[in-house]
Amino acid sequence: MEFLTLNNGILCPAVGIGTFMLTPAEAENSVAQALKMGYSLVDTANAYVNERAVGRGIQQSGLAREQVFLSTKLWPSEYENPNAVNETLARLGVDYVDLLYIHQPAGNWLAGYRLLEQAYREGKAKSIGISNFEGSYLDELQTKWEIVPQFMQAEAHPYFTQSELRKTLDRYGIKLMSWYPLGHGDHALLHEPVFAELAARYGKTPAQVILRWHTQMGFAVIPGSRNVDHIRDNLDILDFTLTDDEMACIAALDRGERYYHRTEAQLAQFAGWRPQFEQA
Ligand SMILES: NC(=O)c1ccc[n+]([C@@H]2O[C@H](COP(=O)([O-])OP(=O)(O)OC[C@H]3O[C@@H](n4cnc5c(N)ncnc54)[C@H](OP(=O)(O)O)[C@@H]3O)[C@@H](O)[C@H]2O)c1
Repeated sequence: MEFLTLNNGILCPAVGIGTFMLTPAEAENSVAQALKMGYSLVDTANAYVNERAVGRGIQQSGLAREQVFLSTKLWPSEYENPNAVNETLARLGVDYVDLLYIHQPAGNWLAGYRLLEQAYREGKAKSIGISNFEGSYLDELQTKWEIVPQFMQAEAHPYFTQSELRKTLDRYGIKLMSWYPLGHGDHALLHEPVFAELAARYGKTPAQVILRWHTQMGFAVIPGSRNVDHIRDNLDILDFTLTDDEMACIAALDRGERYYHRTEAQLAQFAGWRPQFEQA
């Protein structure tokens, strides 16, 4: 495994598994299988309503708690809940997480960020992060944080490399964790000729080439999958290195285009939605 060194000295695996849109049964299975195959980073969120299942997947894997880098996210409905962190830990069945995000810059997000800082001070979160805090939200947070976050989780892939955002992140040593690293499975991205060519050159699949590009960009990457073969492939990306020229060819695909266009109206909706958490 390759690791990223965070701005607080903690090491985070470069490759993990994401669990967005996975049902509890799928999440439990994907996480258990992934950890048995050698993964050690798992990403979930309050909003995915599969935290209990992720906890069961970790249990099933037989790995000790400290062998897993577990990442989750507080949803805006929880930002003013003083027990949000404890309730999240209880759902996951752990007494700390390795990384705790606030998921969206919605609602009282500063209260949410203060919960992260408190959790960090109490050892309940070994590192903290912000998710989807691009633009003015990050500008404002920079004037208010007491603890600089270790991660930003944001949409990133070869069509949208977050070149502007990374200038700010680099100033603070904040690492980028890419979501939609495979364009959420987009056919057009996976079938770009450059990936077919590089895949043939290295004996890999286009998806593996894209994921390797992420790690060589210095991003942590958390592809989601419910397919065991894909899960195996997605970890098997560290035995080849793209050259500078090949990285430049991939960079040429950047067209500054997101898949997901968030609006202020959606953020207001996010603030008003409460996940129906799984019952124990
Ligand atoms: N912070 C946020 O707001 C936010 C938003 C979105 C996502 N995320 C996080 O980021 C993670 C990744 O995003 P994502 O899962 O939505 O998108 P993604 O990883 O870009 O793509 C997942 C899709 O790609 C397919 N896939 C996976 N591995 C493949 C492979 N080797 N070859 C071909 N297809 C493959 C999967 O299908 P199969 O199941 O068939 O493999 C699935 O349809 C999420 O799971 C979540 O943890 C965070």
